[in-house]
Amino acid sequence: MFITSMENAYSLKGKNAIVTGGNKGIGLGIATALAHQGANVAIFARDEASAKEVIKDFSAKYEGKFSFYKTDISNMQNCKDSVAKCIADYKTIDVLVNNAGIGTGGSLLDMDENMTSWFECFDVDLHGAVRMCYLVGKHMRDTEKGGHIINITSNAGEIINTPFLTAYAAAKAALNHFTRCLAAEVAPFGIRVNAIAPGFTKSNFTKGIPEEFVKVIAATVPINRFAEAVEIGALAAYLASDASDAMTGAVLTIDGGYSLQH
Ligand SMILES: NC(=O)c1ccc[n+]([C@@H]2O[C@H](COP(=O)([O-])OP(=O)(O)OC[C@H]3O[C@@H](n4cnc5c(N)ncnc54)[C@H](OP(=O)(O)O)[C@@H]3O)[C@@H](O)[C@H]2O)c1
Repeated sequence: MFITSMENAYSLKGKNAIVTGGNKGIGLGIATALAHQGANVAIFARDEASAKEVIKDFSAKYEGKFSFYKTDISNMQNCKDSVAKCIADYKTIDVLVNNAGIGTGGSLLDMDENMTSWFECFDVDLHGAVRMCYLVGKHMRDTEKGGHIINITSNAGEIINTPFLTAYAAAKAALNHFTRCLAAEVAPFGIRVNAIAPGFTKSNFTKGIPEEFVKVIAATVPINRFAEAVEIGALAAYLASDASDAMTGAVLTIDGGYSLQH
C-alpha cells in the first residue's frame, strides 16, 4: 500500500517478516529495527542457541510474535520446510530480508580443482537468497497480497573493497542484478525487490579483524568509522515499510562514502 501522508508511514505493525541470519551481526540489527517498528519477526538461521536468545530478548522488549526456524539456506529442502512451517504459523509473509551470507576469501588460482570454496560461497550468498525469493515470492504472488523483498548485498558487488574476495564480490554483484531483474518480473504482483549494499559494518564478519587494522580501515572511510548493524536495520525498516512503496529494483549503498573514493 502506498502512502499519501506521513501518518504511520514507517510503521510495520502487524507485518510478518522473515530475516535470514537474523540471529547475529547485521541480520540482528535488521531484526531489531523491524521488531522496534512493530513487525513480527521469523529468524531463519542454523545456530539455534543464539536465535533463541534473540527471541527471548525481543519477546521481553517488543509486542510482536518472534520465532526461529532452523534453516541452512544452501539446502533447498531445508528452505522449503522452514518456509512452509513459517507460513503455517504466520499465515502470510509480508517481508523477506535475505541477509544471511558468508565472506569467502582466497585467490581463485589457489582453489582446489573443484573450486569448492567458490561454489560454497555462491550457494549461500547468491543461491540462498534466490531459493528464498523463489519460495516466498510464490507465496506473495499466490496470496495476491504482494510484499517486500530486501536482499543484503555489499559494496564489494560494485567495487574492489578488499582484495581476494573474488567469489564473494561476484556473488554479490550477481545478487544486485538479480534484484533489478526480479523487481521488474514481480512488480505486477505487488512485490517490491530492493537491495542494500553495506560497506564495513560491525558484525561477526568483521569481529576477527585486529583492532589496529580496524583503525587503519576506518581511516579510509569518509565517516571514519564502521557502520553499526542497526544503521543497516534502519534502512531495511524503511524499505519494508509503505513509505518506500514507489521504490523497487534499487540497490542502496550504505558505506559511509567508502565507494565514492574507490
Ligand atoms: N559486516 C560487513 O562489513 C558486511 C559488509 C557488506 C555486506 N555484508 C553482508 O551482510 C550480511 C550479514 O553479514 P554479517 O556481517 O552480519 O555476518 P555475520 O555476523 O557472520 O552473520 C552471518 C549470518 O548469516 C547466517 N548464515 C550464514 N550462513 C548461513 C546458512 N548457510 N544458512 C543460514 N544462515 C546462514 C549466520 O547464522 P548461523 O551461523 O546461525 O547460520 C549469521 O546470522 C551478509 O550477507 C554479508 O555479506 C556484511
